[in-house]
Amino acid sequence: MKSPALTIDSRLMKETSSCVVVRPGRNVAGQLSLPGDKSISHRYAMLGAIAEGTTRLENFSAGADCASTLACLRTLGVKWERDGSKVTIHGAGPRLSAPAAALDCGNSGSTMRMLSGILAGQEFTSELIGDESLSRRPMARVITPLSAMGAKFEAGDGGWPPLKIVGGRLQAINYKMPVASAQVKSAILFAGLFAGGETIVSEPIRTRDHGEQALAAFGAEVKHTGNESRIAGGQNLRAIEAAIPGDISSAAFFLGAAALFPESQLVINDVLLNPTRARLLDILLAMGVGISVTQLEEQHGELRGTVQVSGGHLTGATISGADTAVLIDEIPVLAAIAPYTAKGIEIRDARELRVKESDRIVSLATNLRAMGARVEELDDGLRIPGSQELHGAEIDSFGDHRIAMAFAVAALRAEGTTKIGRADAAVISYPGFFEALKNLVQR
Ligand code: S3P
Repeated sequence: MKSPALTIDSRLMKETSSCVVVRPGRNVAGQLSLPGDKSISHRYAMLGAIAEGTTRLENFSAGADCASTLACLRTLGVKWERDGSKVTIHGAGPRLSAPAAALDCGNSGSTMRMLSGILAGQEFTSELIGDESLSRRPMARVITPLSAMGAKFEAGDGGWPPLKIVGGRLQAINYKMPVASAQVKSAILFAGLFAGGETIVSEPIRTRDHGEQALAAFGAEVKHTGNESRIAGGQNLRAIEAAIPGDISSAAFFLGAAALFPESQLVINDVLLNPTRARLLDILLAMGVGISVTQLEEQHGELRGTVQVSGGHLTGATISGADTAVLIDEIPVLAAIAPYTAKGIEIRDARELRVKESDRIVSLATNLRAMGARVEELDDGLRIPGSQELHGAEIDSFGDHRIAMAFAVAALRAEGTTKIGRADAAVISYPGFFEALKNLVQR
């Protein structure tokens, strides 16, 4: 009997970490539906908390990050219930309750940054803490604009967490963000709800617009033109009912896996296709992957549909500028498939990768090299030549969910067995990832 393409090794490598073993596959075939988009789940939960009425969400993200958001909301006095992927949030109106304990954001930068925007407008003091990785992520990018609006902050060295926020009455600002970040943009717009006057935020490159779409869904008026978004203070939010589309950034790993084999045929049902998130589809199409989209629908301003993928012969790509900003979460999987393309993939303007859940430029280069690839590490990206043969190796997730999942994909075309240490990091965005991949890989 053949051994399965992927085995989940229950043997613990470390007390809290598991190892996943991946063997090569022949193609990827079948259908899947994904847990709800992480970016949208965070925003709907936070806005549901400060809305009037009961927000009912279906297909809420299964990831630990969105569970961190829900846990913080509970500490802020918000009542909610969860039944699998259904989450019901009883809105507290704009005023939350002073927390009796620190708000633990776990590994989630989105929770810490976007919740800061809401906490800046609350008449109490709160403290936000995170795990080891989050405690080394830059928060000055939210501290600067939210302080200009009138909130007071205390942070650790270098603007790192823990963050103490003394909230209160805010005034509107006109802020030009130095770094393109949708989390920061959302934090400022959320704070804008509590400010006197109209808050204007502009970004150097247009990033995902879920904050704007979610605010509009909850009944706020948001003006959104080009790279600028505006919101007037004092608007009240109304609860919504929504089914959250599948997470396109989780779909990316399956798209990447299918792309590796000319014989692949994969269908991903009801996945988010918001144009500010779906650039990966264009890139894969341009590289020779067969992609078609059907059943397009829109709910609350978010486009969704079914994606059919067939494998091809991958050419290669250069990702830079605005593409890098909108593809930032998909770069790990693009790097993982890069050696198997004909001409390789070059990634530029991606310095932000250094301040994600791990320094992803280092994590990607280290693991690719361990698997025998030639890789050039650049200050702002990676140059990965094509037409390379990789071999299995013992690698590490660096505690980073997207690195764990990207290397399960890379391992499918490598010669021999790959062991991914601390693979349980995948729970941050997609707890069922390895099982789902295993079910689709043919040997
Ligand atoms: C996110 C924005 C991006 C992305 C993150 C989720 C969001 O981060 O990498 O996974 O939901 O707004 P930045 O805002 O730091 O670019």
